[in-house]
Amino acid sequence: MRNSLYNAKLNYLQYGIREIVLIADQIKQREPAFAMIPENIGDPIIKGWTTPQYVKDLLCDIARNKDVVWGYVHSRGLERAREWVAQDANRCYPKAHLTIDDIVFANGLGAAIGLTYVALPEKARVIQPSPSYPTHASLEAFASGKESISYNCDPKHGWEIDLDHLESQIRNHPDITGILVVNPNNPTGAVYARETLERVVDLALKYNLFILADEIYYRLVYNGKVHHHMSAVVDGRVPLIVMRGISKDIPWPGSRCGWIEFHNTKRNADFAAFAEGVKKRMLLEVGATSMPQHLIPYLYDHPDFQAHLDANNQKLEENSRTIAGILNSIREVTCNPSNGAFYITSVFEPGVLHDQQTLPIENAAVRTFIEQEVQKPGIALDKRFAYYLLANTGIVVTPASDFFSPYVGFRVTTLDRDPEKLKLTYGKLKAAIQAYVAS
Ligand SMILES: Cc1ncc(COP(=O)(O)O)c(C=O)c1O
Repeated sequence: MRNSLYNAKLNYLQYGIREIVLIADQIKQREPAFAMIPENIGDPIIKGWTTPQYVKDLLCDIARNKDVVWGYVHSRGLERAREWVAQDANRCYPKAHLTIDDIVFANGLGAAIGLTYVALPEKARVIQPSPSYPTHASLEAFASGKESISYNCDPKHGWEIDLDHLESQIRNHPDITGILVVNPNNPTGAVYARETLERVVDLALKYNLFILADEIYYRLVYNGKVHHHMSAVVDGRVPLIVMRGISKDIPWPGSRCGWIEFHNTKRNADFAAFAEGVKKRMLLEVGATSMPQHLIPYLYDHPDFQAHLDANNQKLEENSRTIAGILNSIREVTCNPSNGAFYITSVFEPGVLHDQQTLPIENAAVRTFIEQEVQKPGIALDKRFAYYLLANTGIVVTPASDFFSPYVGFRVTTLDRDPEKLKLTYGKLKAAIQAYVAS
């Protein structure tokens, strides 16, 4: 190459949730009968959830009868869809007064996250929760060309935000210009108390920061918890970006449809100019996937939606209790039941894992492969555990270290629809943990 294509910033891009599937593929090549039990990916569809019939009917109807849905839409999103999003934002917080000019659609919230961080100047950093959802943490690090900066969430206190740590990080890193709050949280399943969010807003006010609120899971809340919209807590006082999408609650992850809401742009000219920059960037991309946008106004306001949502939340609540019950019965593991979204992150007690533990792997070729993988330099102890677990049981979990966590542990999804299968999987997981720890 005339000039090297090596880009050190690409090393910041990590997505362990799917990287472990590559290990599973390697196992399958060596043992064709190997069956994977995917507890790693937050895709409700692969776990047997169904998109409601009315969504399928509406999609078939527009695809057959409306030629316009096959074309491009406005670069920021279909006007009717942005109108609906603005109305919905105003429903969440009646004083929001958003208009269609405050909304930008993207190809999934994943793309919206990239769009946002890449538009920021390198010196304007956004502090991430830890554990972090890797799309946020990786893309923020990639955009700034530096390691991600994070604040701790505390597993001993229901994964609540450690506000003292957040403030000390803000004080110690003058580049921090924004705070990311993912609520309900992936990977912890936490739903934050209003007082916690108030304190985050106080810090944003004190240090002149903006807030980025990822609320893609806001309808998936249970165990008697209430979700508080950041727009309502901010109450017009702080520049705010809210991110949402249709992947999780409809659920329609394959739609690749998410959006950004810019709140309170009139309060700060710098923030308003940033919002304009993001909109301009979408102009260059021509626009996001059009077909789901044509359906947006009909998805959540349909008379069948609420019953569908209630049934799903009930299932998530049951699964959260069952899984947390099983995992908490293991002496070396602590786990908080999730109150929102569909993930539980468990942590091992300090010192429980070390680099000599194993699980039996019958197939010699698979055993050799795993032994080679776990000897790679710098492999985290929880990743080592996850690889042995995978080869021994087929269960795929995501190591906590893949969420940039200071705690050694793993994340599972709570999406299984079949209670017997769920008990079987988690019974197997429990036995494997006990055997691994005792080995
Ligand atoms: C917190 C969070 N934000 C964003 C996304 C991305 O969602 P989408 O499917 O819309 O790209 C996910 C997906 O798992 C997520 O957990």
